Amino acid sequence: MITKEKREQVPVTQTRIWKDLQAHALSMRQTTLQTLFRDPQRAALFRAEGVGILLDYSRNHLTDHTLRLLLELAEERFFPLRREALFAGAIVNVSEQRPALHTALRLPSNPALSIGKQNITQEVHAVLDQMGDFVEALWSGSLQGANGKPIRNIVNIGIGGSYLGPEMAYQALRRFRNPKIQVRFLANIDGAAFATATESLDPAETLFLVASKTFTTLETLHNAEKARSWLRSTLGTENVNPHFVGVTANVSAAMEFGIPKNQIFRFWEWVGGRYSLDSAIGLSTMASIGSQHFRDFLDGMHAMDEHFRTAAPADNLPLLHGLIAVWNNNFLEASTLAVLPYAHDLRRFPAYLQQLFMESNGKSVDQQGKSVSTQTCPIVWGEPGTDGQHSFFQLLHQGTRNVACDFLGFLEPLSDDIAHHEILLASLLAQCEALAFGKDAQTLAAEGVPAAQIPHRICPGNRQSNVLFAQNLTPESLGALIAFYEHSVFVQGLIWDIDSFDQWGVELGKHLAQRLLGEIRERQVDRGLHDSATVMDLDLYLHRRE
Ligand code: F6P
Repeated sequence: MITKEKREQVPVTQTRIWKDLQAHALSMRQTTLQTLFRDPQRAALFRAEGVGILLDYSRNHLTDHTLRLLLELAEERFFPLRREALFAGAIVNVSEQRPALHTALRLPSNPALSIGKQNITQEVHAVLDQMGDFVEALWSGSLQGANGKPIRNIVNIGIGGSYLGPEMAYQALRRFRNPKIQVRFLANIDGAAFATATESLDPAETLFLVASKTFTTLETLHNAEKARSWLRSTLGTENVNPHFVGVTANVSAAMEFGIPKNQIFRFWEWVGGRYSLDSAIGLSTMASIGSQHFRDFLDGMHAMDEHFRTAAPADNLPLLHGLIAVWNNNFLEASTLAVLPYAHDLRRFPAYLQQLFMESNGKSVDQQGKSVSTQTCPIVWGEPGTDGQHSFFQLLHQGTRNVACDFLGFLEPLSDDIAHHEILLASLLAQCEALAFGKDAQTLAAEGVPAAQIPHRICPGNRQSNVLFAQNLTPESLGALIAFYEHSVFVQGLIWDIDSFDQWGVELGKHLAQRLLGEIRERQVDRGLHDSATVMDLDLYLHRRE
């Protein structure tokens, strides 16, 4: 357990080790990747492997010495103690006084983990069994709508963590899906999203899975209401209940909405929304890939948890990745991270990681509420390869900004066409090589490029990237990859000493939207309440509508 004294840390920038890293960064900025790669052992030295994932971090501006300093920094920030606190269910979400026990969602049933009187593993496995029974009924055709037709379509209504993970996993595990079950996702409150999600669906064969931790989220509740009237209009008012299930940590609110208790799958306050894909929030995933594959997915996550807990620091993938992210962000001024999966099936992975990283670590105060003394979360963005190459990669190669990149690749093809796969893989490696080593004026001149064009065609190189390889994209490897990033985010948050598990910043906008909605509905602008720009924009809307 972390004692109070240990939690009250000095700002990280005041530590000796931070200053050592700053001094070291000055010299590393002068050292090119070209120079570093003169060491023939470099590629072999700066890579780590675990749980079927290989992290090649050799194309970063770092040496053995850098790594030693970064690992010392982690020690200085009580990494082992804080990691233990996370897994043990200590209060790591200090502003909400909660544990963040997502790792408990993927524990095997034995040995049991209890917090106070709550036997967590028992409860987790009871819900997993309930989910398994539901999916068995769905797959067998015995889960039927009001008029006896088997359910074939599931529409997951949810937003943020109740959407991004499920949609990403549904796409990522395309090859494991039951083709008889169609899953769609409805997140946005824009009515166009509802129209798209329900287009050409037969209400009699459709089940709405209302996924919301709090069961208070405006978009989700409004979309769920709309779903209810959509069902009513064809099935009749008394026939909608069999077409709803709820997934929530707020069972009474789901019941109040009208979902019968035995159609509710629960999870717990100690599961953060962005960490909830492995809870009942994964029900749409399980509905698609089946119970066994979902358990394989959890096993992949658990294997990465065990790796993170037990691997030596120098071999510990999430620890290394998190520390290198801090190095690039805080010492080499790479303020954004591009996530570049070379896999069409992982096309929503950048969006998923945006919430994971930025909702967790987009903070400006430390755990004691004092302003942080350095930059925190990088801006995370990205697109799948090779699409991104034909849009923003220009900036990566020749722009003025320093961008950290994570390339993700798979050794085995994700389709049955090896020719496609080889082009994909060659493209990934080519981009990393071009970013790191570029092309200089001399080479261009030797190739006969006209002198006037040479400055435009120089690629300076010396731009860092990580490559993550897995053998294949399977439920296990997806689980391992997600847990890898969760723990990397945790490591970064602990270096900055921020609360990675709250998200107060999103509340203000929600509150203001409710107030503005009242005014829009009443057609009455409260001029004393708003700034002049908001008043003018409200007037514009109200008058254009009239
Ligand atoms: O608005 C942010 C947020 O609170 C996320 O943290 C969460 O994943 C999302 O909204 C959805 O919340 P809920 O699952 O409670 O509907």
